[in-house]
Amino acid sequence: MNKPKIAVIGSLNMDIVIEAQRAPRMGETILGQQAHFIPGGKGANQAVASARLGAHTSMIGSVGQDAFGKQLLASMQQEGIDCQTIKSVEQAATGIANILLADGDNSIIVVPGANAYCTTEDIDKHEQAIADADVVMLQLEIPLETVIYAAEKAKHLGKQVILNPAPAQALPDRLFAAIDILTPNETEVYQLAGFEIGEVELQQAMQALQSKGVQHVITTLGSKGAAFLDQSGQVEIVPAYKVEVVDTTGAGDSFNAGLAVAIGSGRRIPEAVVFASKVAALAVTKMGAQQGMPTLEQVENFISKKG
Ligand code: ATP
Ligand code: RIB
Repeated sequence: MNKPKIAVIGSLNMDIVIEAQRAPRMGETILGQQAHFIPGGKGANQAVASARLGAHTSMIGSVGQDAFGKQLLASMQQEGIDCQTIKSVEQAATGIANILLADGDNSIIVVPGANAYCTTEDIDKHEQAIADADVVMLQLEIPLETVIYAAEKAKHLGKQVILNPAPAQALPDRLFAAIDILTPNETEVYQLAGFEIGEVELQQAMQALQSKGVQHVITTLGSKGAAFLDQSGQVEIVPAYKVEVVDTTGAGDSFNAGLAVAIGSGRRIPEAVVFASKVAALAVTKMGAQQGMPTLEQVENFISKKG
């Protein structure tokens, strides 16, 4: 693959990950097994995964002037990501994600903190990073106003715009019109299309989103794989690779990065979804969102073993 240029606009969090046998009930205290402090945040995870997959990667975002903020910036720099476009604000602490791993699943509370200070002015200030990119990646852990502004600017500049609509929230139609690839998960796809889960077939929900102006909708289905619509509007499923799962936190982020790198390298949607599925399969075999992101070499080795 040739080396694509990717600009990620989004969140940086310190993930405080607690492993426990089960989730506590409200008002209850239980003992957990382990605590980990791992760099995370959907934006930063996507940036790290893109960089490890060989893309020139820059990130626009915001951290606090605290120890976590410094740690997150240092780890991004170590990955070779252009971080000059990440600011340190004094008004808020670095974003935190409180992640509970229990019963083979996770639950997450995000406190955005400094991520809430990633503004439309930052997008104007760092327009060059967007202009230099082939693909621009967005998620929903920074203010929606900034996401809309950045998507429209990137679209105007002729970039491929990927929006991972997570965490889920209602989105205005004008945002959909600026998106080339929308990547909801199985819950988000119905919510965004205005249906209850299971009310309609997946195909109908995805078609409803496309009719809002999105070029392509790709729905991630966890261990069931990922779905896209073929040229006649029928759902095609790319099954997930069978792997030994350690931690699925960041599965969606690794998938989105794989997709962005493949699209930025000129691959078409079906091949890009297969590549993204390989990246995500490798990511879920490791503990922690960001630290588990695979390199291009690992994906290529995995391809030769599994593919
Ligand atoms: P998260 O919010 O945890 O980052 P998500 O809900 O955004 O995840 P998922 O749909 O759970 O995203 O997963 C994204 C992709 O990761 C899937 O489409 C699939 O390719 C891969 N994946 C997820 N879980 C597994 C698994 N158990 N085994 C193999 N691949 C998986
Ligand atoms: O997608 C996983 C990420 O969501 C975690 O790293 C956490 O920071 C939350 O933002």
